[in-house]
Amino acid sequence: MRVVLKDGVAEFRAVWFEGEKVRMIDQRILPQRFEIVEVGHCKDVANAIKDMTIRGAPSIGAAAAYGMALATLSKMDANEAATILKAARPTANDLFYAVDHMLKSIASGCDPVNEANRYADDIVQRCTMIGENGASLIDDGCSVMTHCNAGALATVDVGTALAPIRMAWYAGKKVFVFVSETRPRLQGMRLTAWELVNEGIPHAIITDGASGHFMKKDVDIIIVGADRIASNGDFANKIGTYEKAVVARELGIPFYVAAPVSSFDFSIDSGDKIPIENRSEGEVTDMEGRRIAPMGSSALNPAFDVTPSKYVRGFITETGVLSPSNIIKMRGDRPAD
Ligand code: MRU
Repeated sequence: MRVVLKDGVAEFRAVWFEGEKVRMIDQRILPQRFEIVEVGHCKDVANAIKDMTIRGAPSIGAAAAYGMALATLSKMDANEAATILKAARPTANDLFYAVDHMLKSIASGCDPVNEANRYADDIVQRCTMIGENGASLIDDGCSVMTHCNAGALATVDVGTALAPIRMAWYAGKKVFVFVSETRPRLQGMRLTAWELVNEGIPHAIITDGASGHFMKKDVDIIIVGADRIASNGDFANKIGTYEKAVVARELGIPFYVAAPVSSFDFSIDSGDKIPIENRSEGEVTDMEGRRIAPMGSSALNPAFDVTPSKYVRGFITETGVLSPSNIIKMRGDRPAD
């Protein structure tokens, strides 16, 4: 991804392996500070996923793949490492997909670092294809709404929901992006807007509650990412996605989900079976470390919601744009195990 720094422009991935360490952009502190965190143990990778130093389904998967590589280098038992990594966060399918992929590769004698690098490269390649397949949905002069961050930070590089926007922009189309702030952790305002600033793509941050207001007359298309997609097309994504999809249906705005094969969970037949992470009350009641809500109020903080497939116009994948009834086709497109 293109990152504008004080002393120029540089290319980074969200997570990579270098000098026997996993390195990742610290997504907790952007855009105020741009810092790279280095971790040298599988358990530290699990902690970085848990505390959201690294986040976004495909980036979590790639970090976990590197975590498995670190475990092998330190002669840690692969099954123990897999258990620790899988316990880091419950919703994103990519975490489980990547760890299982690495378990198989390690058991078959592959070099674990090469294999984790291959996994990360493969995700970037798939996101590039998602961008190419989705760019034609974005007409010149189009206004696109997105939610949370499904950009390069969330996917090692390129993005899922942001990939078609990037490709349309690179092709010379005029685009405008409505970025919903994404309470409580503000991945839209802090991370998606930061990526768009780095690319020079016109956008505005809106409060989550303003989405319906702008959808009424200013939004042509909505593209979001996904953390887990069931085989019937129901999908989990950042809390607040469901209501956007419902309002989009009411207003006739096409609603698309962009995701690679690693986010599809064919072992479950409906969204009811997707485990939803509940995060701390403090993320809701406090801001910048200071309590804002009255003492004595409690808060509920599900990190994701599930949107039924009937609201989805199409899934933008590396194999093409698929209707919900067609997603079973993704089954045949798993990366080499
Ligand atoms: O809690 P987060 O920030 O990990 O949630 C991320 C999302 O909900 C993204 O939309 C999703 O992972 C898709 S990322 C390509």
